[in-house]
Amino acid sequence: MYRLVTHFGGGSWALTPEEEQQYIEKIRLLLTIGHTMLKKGYTALDTVQKIVELMEDSGYYNCGKGSITNYNGVVEMDAGIMCGKTLRGGAVATVRTIKNPIKLARLVMDKTHHRLLACEGADEFGKKKGLETVSDSYFVRYQPVETSYFGKAPHETVGAIALDKYGDLAVASSTGGIDDKLKGRIGGVPQLGLELYANNKTCAVACTGIGEPFMRLVTAYDISAQMQYGGKSLEEAVKNIFKEKVEGGLIAMDKDGNIVKECNAPEMLYGYIKEDGSPFAEMYKTPLKN
Ligand code: GLY
Repeated sequence: MYRLVTHFGGGSWALTPEEEQQYIEKIRLLLTIGHTMLKKGYTALDTVQKIVELMEDSGYYNCGKGSITNYNGVVEMDAGIMCGKTLRGGAVATVRTIKNPIKLARLVMDKTHHRLLACEGADEFGKKKGLETVSDSYFVRYQPVETSYFGKAPHETVGAIALDKYGDLAVASSTGGIDDKLKGRIGGVPQLGLELYANNKTCAVACTGIGEPFMRLVTAYDISAQMQYGGKSLEEAVKNIFKEKVEGGLIAMDKDGNIVKECNAPEMLYGYIKEDGSPFAEMYKTPLKN
């Protein structure tokens, strides 16, 4: 059995119906690519990395080419990847020049004894390892248009989770951060356990939204710990987190391939491969509270 779920972020997408349909088609296409990889025997780790890499290259999402800028008008990107089998992970923060931060995160995981590299050191390491670099003109450079995450940010963080035929879970996520950030701000995506976590004993989690509340709650690890030490199901563990003050959404998958999504932002674009192998994707609309 293999499973795949991905999100393109939770927030206020504010798309026209036509645009929404276009994004849904994009997510379906990526799911199909990922599904084919898993079917061919690629690992969950390689699959989630590839999906995130494609999203970084597209310019449509708040990661890689499409990253939002900080207050200084500069792109600073974060990314993380984690293997549920080994509990090894790699992450990078405030990357400025590496085209695919998710590839850099994977290199940190595979080629160093560190878990997180940041700033010039991260860029330098990527360059030294032969990763493609880009100049400022490469980025679409979406400017924040409002100072609230629930404003009109044009696009959001991305994440993917897979379970492969070897029974291993993996998660990857990449982001330009929030649309309201100081130079040097690091979110929860590259801090393993906060917005991203994978453990074959329990589940894999990828969050999207304002990182700070997710960070305060050590959200992704908390969900896993509730399952490992508290005997909760994935659904119960996720619901418990959303009783706290979080702002955004998440996707999660347990070791048996059960998928849970939760969101309290106005919208979240996400999708998964159904049992019959076909892709399902939707712009989930959070019911308005009275
Ligand atoms: N959720 C992404 C961030 O806060 O940077």
